[in-house]
Amino acid sequence: MKHCYLIGYPVSHSLSPVMHNAAFKRLGLDITYSLAPVEPGRLGAYVNDLRRDDFLGASVTIPHKVEVIRHLDTVDATASAIGAVNTIVHGDGRLEGYNTDATGAVKALREEYGELEGAEIVVLGAGGASRAVCYQLSRMDCSLTILNRTADKARRLADSIRDASYARIKCGGLAELGERIGGADILVNATPVGMSPEVNASPVPFKLLRPGLFVYDVIYNPLNTKLLIEAQTVGARTLGGARMLVYQGAEAFQMWTGREAPVETMLEAVLSSLGGRRR
Ligand code: ATR
Repeated sequence: MKHCYLIGYPVSHSLSPVMHNAAFKRLGLDITYSLAPVEPGRLGAYVNDLRRDDFLGASVTIPHKVEVIRHLDTVDATASAIGAVNTIVHGDGRLEGYNTDATGAVKALREEYGELEGAEIVVLGAGGASRAVCYQLSRMDCSLTILNRTADKARRLADSIRDASYARIKCGGLAELGERIGGADILVNATPVGMSPEVNASPVPFKLLRPGLFVYDVIYNPLNTKLLIEAQTVGARTLGGARMLVYQGAEAFQMWTGREAPVETMLEAVLSSLGGRRR
């Protein structure tokens, strides 16, 4: 039997074990995925101990996504550019780091919205989630505006991805939201505003929502945030964070097993854990 872990602190509320174990079972693989709560001071020792034969790979979550990098043997270009690893793959005693949050988030958006080339995209937030989304969007010929409560942090994120970017990148504070949203095709919420248990909060005033805007909230708990519900009320198309969660996991699954991930099984597992229904 081989083992996969979710390394984080705390990790008890994660949906990743349910999602990955459903996938391993579906394909009849003798692999388990379990929680590894690792206190920050123990991360190095824990990761060093993973170069053993029965270790297949791991997911990495808060607060270890940045710190884990210095304990790995290699880090791929995307994860390096983002400065965060969410997936470890064990190959021949070597630990490799990847970032599937970035690719998973944009794959979900492209699938639901359509081609992103030429789109005007506004992203709210400049933390870890935003960084992954913005880096991946910057690989495309689109227009990207990063708005954050702390405008200076949006500027630093914009500066850090601008050099290698194909996108036109702008940034600012939340005071610019009304003006920027007016010309946008897509609005992405990459802040935790609206996440359980603060489900009555939305990062966007209702009056700024309109039918032609596509609204993507990377939050998956709740499945339908206040922002998404209000966007649906005005007739806007929406996408929640469950598919991003599943796609980042599916990509990791493929790297660990060499098999195509049973995406629908993984999505069912996530939706049923969150009490949701298939769309
Ligand atoms: P994550 O890894 O989920 O992105 P993070 O790195 O802590 O979490 O980043 C959270 C982001 O959401 C930040 O951009 C934060 O804004 P600040 O940089 O000003 O702190 C933003 N955020 C958090 N709470 C917010 C709120 N109540 N209103 C607006 N933005 C908020």
